Amino acid sequence: MHKLVVANYKMNGNIKFFRSLNILNKLKLRDTKIVLCPPFLYLPIVKLKNKSISLGCQNISQFINNKSTGEISPLMLKEFNVCYAIIGHSERRAIGETDDMVANKVINALNHDITPIICVGENNKEEGLSLVKTQVKAVLKAIDKSGIEKTKEVIFAYEPVWSIGTGKLPTIKDIDKAVKLIKTTAKLLVNTKVLYGGSINGDNFTDLTNSIADGFLLGGVSQKLEEFKKIVKGVDA
Ligand code: PGA
Repeated sequence: MHKLVVANYKMNGNIKFFRSLNILNKLKLRDTKIVLCPPFLYLPIVKLKNKSISLGCQNISQFINNKSTGEISPLMLKEFNVCYAIIGHSERRAIGETDDMVANKVINALNHDITPIICVGENNKEEGLSLVKTQVKAVLKAIDKSGIEKTKEVIFAYEPVWSIGTGKLPTIKDIDKAVKLIKTTAKLLVNTKVLYGGSINGDNFTDLTNSIADGFLLGGVSQKLEEFKKIVKGVDA
């Protein structure tokens, strides 16, 4: 199964930066896929000409209607060749996104052949994985109820909130424990991947490749192109 490296640019970058990503088209990757997730406005600026690289977004509407001011529908995203959507990132959960909203967004994405990258993770180190299990179950319940084919690709990203942007990392053992829990909880799905995300950089990623995670979700380091390329090449080696 190929590895996946997802770049979450969050609300960073500008036209010049997203144009500069075109240089990634030159990357020759053996078996690793990259997903670049710029803010919505910059989606049309990233011109991809490399079959190993796809476009993703950082959110998606839970609705398909004409009464959703300020929302972006999967149909619109498809027009811009968006194949993946990060859903339920902790920074969105922190401003009110609930498990139900996350589940609705996942269904909306899957119904339009956009692969969801669902972020789950505990808030504090001491908390254990019960929240992670609840977050995964909420999505699973909705997928089961929706009748969506269980063969569709669904990606989870284990992102302990205490690790995001803090420089703190879980141990490989803890990452593996979370990955196993997510895979067991989501065993209904045939085609799942579980990524790890939180404080990954060009120095610490080699150690993290020893985990059983199927790839990485990168935040801050995605903005540093050379470091980003180093990570991608390292994962692909
Ligand atoms: P970080 O962010 O790599 O900057 O810690 C990860 C994320 O928020 O997805």
